[in-house]
Amino acid sequence: MSILSLIYAPAKVLEKKAVEVKKIDNDIKNLVNNMFDTMYENNGVGLAAPQVNESLQILVMDCSNKDISLDRKVLINPRIIKQSNDYKEYEEGCLSFPDHYFTVSRPESLNVSFIDIDGNNKEFFFNGFEAVCVQHEIDHLSGTLFTSYLSRLKRQIIIKKMQKFKKNINKSI
Ligand code: NI
Repeated sequence: MSILSLIYAPAKVLEKKAVEVKKIDNDIKNLVNNMFDTMYENNGVGLAAPQVNESLQILVMDCSNKDISLDRKVLINPRIIKQSNDYKEYEEGCLSFPDHYFTVSRPESLNVSFIDIDGNNKEFFFNGFEAVCVQHEIDHLSGTLFTSYLSRLKRQIIIKKMQKFKKNINKSI
């Protein structure tokens, strides 16, 4: 079990399109296991590979009540193939923006095709909180952060706050 270092915004790796995974080898399987460990350790519900400095199209999520049971989902090279016309607002957080929460409006449900950890092609229907989570994480793989849904002014304020936050972390090490 390894806890990986989280990449905090602003960072180049969070703003570029992640690379498609061609082969699911042991390195990828180890990365996925470490991503789960890192996500659980930080009390997250989803994590995308660029957030641990790996520019690969991999996301992990678990939207279950973890006190009761786990629901680990791994999506490799995910593609949105259908989205509902109805939108829903939800207050989202992001492990790359500690202590920042913003209301984002997204399609209420969607279908996603992806490759699972065993290399099988799959298609899932997501709704409710899982739909919010999977869309937030798929956004990460194209370099889109949840702050991109805010006004430019608000986004600039957040970036300044995050720059300050990162400076303080570096000082305390
Ligand atoms: Ni995020």
